[in-house]
Amino acid sequence: MHHIALDAPDDFEGWRDVARRLVLADVHPADVTWQVGDAPGDLFASDALPVIEARGAVFTVPRAFVDLAQSAILHRDNERFALLYALLCRVRARPGTMEDKADPLLRRVEALAKTVRRDIHKMRAFVRFREVAEEGGARFVAWFEPDHHIVRANAGFFARRFTTMCWSILTPDVSIHWDGEIVREGPGATRADAPGDDPVEALWKGYYAAIFNPARLKTGAMLSEMPRKYWRNLPEAALIPDLIAGAQQREAAMIATAPLAEKPTGRQGNAETVWAALRGDAMGCTRCALHENATQTVFGEGPLNAPLLFIGEQPGDQEDLAGRPFVGPAGQLFDAALAEAGVDRRQAYVTNAVKHFKFEQRGKRRIHQTPQAGEVQACRWWLAQELDIIRPRIVVALGATAARAMLGKAVAIGKTRGAAIPLDNGAEGWVTVHPSYLLRLPDETRQAEERARFVAELHMVEERLAALV
Ligand code: URA
Repeated sequence: MHHIALDAPDDFEGWRDVARRLVLADVHPADVTWQVGDAPGDLFASDALPVIEARGAVFTVPRAFVDLAQSAILHRDNERFALLYALLCRVRARPGTMEDKADPLLRRVEALAKTVRRDIHKMRAFVRFREVAEEGGARFVAWFEPDHHIVRANAGFFARRFTTMCWSILTPDVSIHWDGEIVREGPGATRADAPGDDPVEALWKGYYAAIFNPARLKTGAMLSEMPRKYWRNLPEAALIPDLIAGAQQREAAMIATAPLAEKPTGRQGNAETVWAALRGDAMGCTRCALHENATQTVFGEGPLNAPLLFIGEQPGDQEDLAGRPFVGPAGQLFDAALAEAGVDRRQAYVTNAVKHFKFEQRGKRRIHQTPQAGEVQACRWWLAQELDIIRPRIVVALGATAARAMLGKAVAIGKTRGAAIPLDNGAEGWVTVHPSYLLRLPDETRQAEERARFVAELHMVEERLAALV
């Protein structure tokens, strides 16, 4: 029997080193026990390990295994080290194991990894810093209670995201601190160690109230994405009950005055469940590298029976923080243009070709970068499923990236705009410019002309929709 003691609950390197040696020595998973540190009752500690003589021998595993193991090992499940070792032995014996989606062991480990990725996302989305004065400036301190051992794994994200601030994140197991150069670790803390209200909160609350659109509220999705346990740390959570109450009244008025064309009943309930599951999966998306630096996945939103679906390019700085599409400057222009064109945004589902914000950090600013074809292609996986659920009559691509995502190939906006394009799913596709393009035009006259053309094209879409539904 081999009793292995790892240094820390997230000690992937330690686990990998030992697991490699055990596999090469053909040690059966049933002959290994795993623990973290010197737990009581550990009579043998790890001194059985040196009998394994295989150090340095070569053993390669698929990249997919390494990625999966790095996430799954962060789970709190005490079985995780043993499960991963059993999976490693299986992968070595049967190289196709990682593609065998029916393999129960693989499925169990994938479920652990998925839960961990979701927890990582929650931490990125729900950490809220409070300003504390300290010698030589300010420090921003946050309290967070993760479900799993994700804090160290997430430290790089916060260091990149808040490079220019000095910050500390306190959690029950460990605290991490950034002073602009390195991440330092400290012991766990309690909520009482973290500060309460400060002026940053007032700003954040104002911002949240301003971007909260009652017509797009989905209480169920909101509660599943922002579970109540996080509310205590979120300044904006204090606003939620009032905002929801107001939203319900305003939505009732909206339904009374402008009923949507109903699609067959029965599908709607099912669509809600399928959409919520899809959105949940997208929150942990790692299909391309953009998730590494973005705050969160920004999924589409709107009625699931919407006859009209808009595709933007990707979330911008504000959308990345708010977790909702088109709430920043481009979104405001978009809303105004829709209103002028007579299109009710509340009847449209609005999404993006790419669901993570791609940017370059320059000082404090995050500068938008256009997504590459590979990133658009990776994200079409989500878009295709959104289209399947919503089944809109008309799909409008805003700009070249959206057009590429809609049509599966690059097209010139100038040549494709203003006319219907039949899509494979039976809907009608339309291409127009992206609102950000209008915002970037330096010449005012030109901007006014292009804006008018954009509004005219949206109006054509509205007329076409009226003819179709
Ligand atoms: N631009 C986009 O394409 N989408 C958004 O959500 C915001 C800005």
